[in-house]
Amino acid sequence: MSSFAGEFFGTGAEGSAVYAAWMAVAGRVLDGAASAAAYSGASPESLELLLAGEVCPADGVAADVVGERLALVARHSVQPWHPFTAAHLHTPVLSAALAAEAVLSALNQSMDSFDQAPAASVLEGKILDWLCRLAGFPETAGGTFTAGGTQSNYMGLLLARDHFLMERFGWDARANGVPPDAGRMRFLCSEVAHFSVEKSAIQLGLGMRAVVKVGCDERFRMRPDLLRAELARLRSEGLWAVAIVATAGTTDFGSIDPVAEIAAIAREEGAWLHVDAAYGGALLLSERYRGRLAGVELADSLTVDFHKAFFQPISCSAFLLADQRRFATIRVYADYLNTESREAEGIPDLVTRSVLTTRRFDALKLWVSLQALGRARFGAMVERLVGLAEFAAGWIGACPDLELATAPEFGAVVFRFRPWEAGAAVWNEAIPARLFAEGRAVVGHTVVRGEPCLKLTLCNPAVETGQLAALLGMIVDCGKGMA
Ligand SMILES: Cc1ncc(COP(=O)(O)O)c(C=O)c1O
Repeated sequence: MSSFAGEFFGTGAEGSAVYAAWMAVAGRVLDGAASAAAYSGASPESLELLLAGEVCPADGVAADVVGERLALVARHSVQPWHPFTAAHLHTPVLSAALAAEAVLSALNQSMDSFDQAPAASVLEGKILDWLCRLAGFPETAGGTFTAGGTQSNYMGLLLARDHFLMERFGWDARANGVPPDAGRMRFLCSEVAHFSVEKSAIQLGLGMRAVVKVGCDERFRMRPDLLRAELARLRSEGLWAVAIVATAGTTDFGSIDPVAEIAAIAREEGAWLHVDAAYGGALLLSERYRGRLAGVELADSLTVDFHKAFFQPISCSAFLLADQRRFATIRVYADYLNTESREAEGIPDLVTRSVLTTRRFDALKLWVSLQALGRARFGAMVERLVGLAEFAAGWIGACPDLELATAPEFGAVVFRFRPWEAGAAVWNEAIPARLFAEGRAVVGHTVVRGEPCLKLTLCNPAVETGQLAALLGMIVDCGKGMA
């Protein structure tokens, strides 16, 4: 046997023993981290010093020694399961998903071709079919797993651009790239849509000027009347409304655009409708709240992130396409991987529907989680997030030092500390920074209509309302200490 066998999983008894030793190390590291504060409070400079050791020593060291170094990294990581970690869409992970993560990494299936991922390719297809049905997509629909909402949104706008050029001008973007007057293309989204719309426009060769921001109502939902006005303006200026992006669960407010109404406008205009449900897509699991997503079934494409309110380890997201034939505009064949003849035989080489080649089998951890918890329990956890946000909004409403920006629609709550006092802008910026530097809490911040705000993104269904009240109390005390 090669002297390297012990280094690899699956190579026999020696490999298994090494794997077991490493899993024991990992278990100890995680047990240590689980009882830590939300964050250690370490600054970038102190982390530079703490992590100054040699990256690649000439000779390796024992697992236990590596484990001590690993524990150092864990000790200075934000603990996403901590009740006082509530800044971002940064969730604790389901234990079932974590176990599946180990399995999918060990299996190391690569989702680009069937001969690297046979069962995985078929299972991923089944999970995507399930999601298409859950979202109410038509029979023609299909999808792919992606690295995250940014990539899913990018795919939506990429396919929208290519579809528009073909439909409107018979222009084949796959063969020819974009035409000389591509500078007329525009994507419309709300003023609080995720910045990945702009990032996509940059990558698509259209630049940020291609993104037209549509105003929102007082609950941060796109206003259909303003959308119509922008579309009329674009038409009058000879610009092309290629796609409208509706957000179902905005990053800051969890607000949900009126998707059904926007879908009707998109249809009238002949524009592609992409729905960014990276965050709000989880509401589909709740019988009680899925009505809030009415209209997503009318989208041409849809983003759903599982590493948000489906509690999966990063990364795990899906991109759905109502008519999966439209993946054709990004299809490229490679002799070594996915030939046309294999496709004609019906072999699912999934590289044809992804912007990636090598791709993780992230679908597995979602599948294991869905199997282990079932829809009712998943739905209850999503509903718990809504309940926590409502509790926080009530607490803020009753607190004389705080003011709520708007009623929450999902799990995000935006508010301000004493906005009526002169120091408000400084305090509201400083509170999250101070709590983070002291390692006491990880609280969000954002800017609403020019004013710095505090934000809690509640994405841990295990948090108790008492803990949430304690966090809000800590924020108020921190503000009072500055005022
Ligand atoms: C609404 C929305 N869309 C897209 C994204 C981007 O997702 P990701 O960070 O997974 O790329 C986010 C991230 O928070 C989001 O909130």
